[in-house]
Amino acid sequence: MSRTVDADPNPTVRRMYDELGELLERGDEAFVEEGPDIVKNAIAEPGFFDGVSTAHADQGGYTREKVIGDPDGHVVRYMEWPPEYALMPHEHHGRPCFEVLVEGQLVLSDLSATTVGENEYTFDVIETTTADPGEAAVVDPRENEIHAVYSPVRSRSLHVYPDDNWEAYGYVPKDDSTSDAVDVYERESFQLRE
Ligand SMILES: [Fe+2]
Repeated sequence: MSRTVDADPNPTVRRMYDELGELLERGDEAFVEEGPDIVKNAIAEPGFFDGVSTAHADQGGYTREKVIGDPDGHVVRYMEWPPEYALMPHEHHGRPCFEVLVEGQLVLSDLSATTVGENEYTFDVIETTTADPGEAAVVDPRENEIHAVYSPVRSRSLHVYPDDNWEAYGYVPKDDSTSDAVDVYERESFQLRE
């Protein structure tokens, strides 16, 4: 059995984390509206990346290294995405989250679901945001919940979640030989936490 001991976050990371916590005390709206600028400013400071790195992501999927997260608090994770990786449509139980790109490029698509059968859905893209290094993409449930992510090239991004211990709902392609042009998905519960 292996045990991971979190290293102490560096002071720049801790300061950013505490500022994000002050936003959350004001509510999810302040968190999602003002949080991205706090992270953008923090990563531009010298020393932010001391002791902060990603784990290599192979073609099978992304990796998520915890940067900082107090028990029962918000959490910041440093994610690495392999090239040409698509994360299926999913939603986060009504909570917001956001990411700031460090390297590469991430494409975030907001989707609307149409129910086409018993636990069967199709999706339309409402809006697509392309984040380049230093830019943010946000998931704001006041506007839209279901989203998908695509990394055209190997990418690294900092993701901030208001809570580290939640379930999400993901949509997986339904294996259905009778469907032709349109992709049909089924909704499943999954855990974001490793
Ligand atoms: Fe997400």
